[in-house]
Amino acid sequence: MDQGTTTNPLGAAVQAIRAARYVTAMTGAGLSVESGIPPFRGPGGLWTKHGEPPMNGYEQFLEDPKAAWEARLNPKGPMRVLWETLQAARPNPGHYALAEMEKSGTLRCLITQNVDDLHRAAGSTKLAEIHGNYTLVRCIECGGRRHRDEISLDQLPPVCESCGGIVKSDTVSFGEPIPGDVLRVCQEVSRDCDCMIVAGTSATVYPAAQFPIDVRQRGGVLIEINPYESELTPICNISLRGPAGEILPQLVDTLGAAS
Ligand code: OAD
Repeated sequence: MDQGTTTNPLGAAVQAIRAARYVTAMTGAGLSVESGIPPFRGPGGLWTKHGEPPMNGYEQFLEDPKAAWEARLNPKGPMRVLWETLQAARPNPGHYALAEMEKSGTLRCLITQNVDDLHRAAGSTKLAEIHGNYTLVRCIECGGRRHRDEISLDQLPPVCESCGGIVKSDTVSFGEPIPGDVLRVCQEVSRDCDCMIVAGTSATVYPAAQFPIDVRQRGGVLIEINPYESELTPICNISLRGPAGEILPQLVDTLGAAS
């Protein structure tokens, strides 16, 4: 890291983005903290407070899909509380800044681990939701997705209108393979990318955490945005310390001023 990178990291980030051929971003739960959604790990994290959920969530779903749906729909259940928090949340300036970067042609694609739909709500369209989207359901046989309001929950588990397969939430459970369509997009994008902005993630869950590592190993630049250090910090070229809802708009403003 040269001295300019450490003394003026925002300027260094702008320079790196302007010099890059193919800029992408990968986001995590930290991006939505300023929208009122708690992260998983770290201070105030869901799992810091309540402990980690079972690591075999997908296996449990497959064993008894009806029970899994009933647990999810239980008005007093923990999942219901989480869904209500997601429903009430609105995008924050960090989400809007990334949508603005796409609109200006700077950002080619955004990989998000978040299921909260807030990037889409902010206007991002080139989006790969690697852990799914809570507003959607997906057939575990054919992979077809529909909006959750379009399916009947009178009979549980719901079945796919196209192939008759069992339908589950599009959100990826522990132990569930990442759906092939979205995984392919993420792999292609991170292969082509020579500068990745990594915002609001602890970078502890794979395969998502592997994409920035791959970009760095191929000689690309990694720009981290996080108030705290993460697993990725040691390999990041530039670290912008602070909340994404403040840093991303500053980055967009500085990029605009430099153009
Ligand atoms: P984590 O909860 O693991 O990490 C959140 C990160 O956000 C931490 O590094 C925080 O320091 C950082 N952070 C906190 N507030 C922030 C702010 N205002 N601005 C920017 N960063 C902030 O969340 P993820 O890395 O997204 O997967 O977790 C990855 C996956 O773990 C999730 O997608 C989820 C979980 O298993 C599934 O549900 C499949």
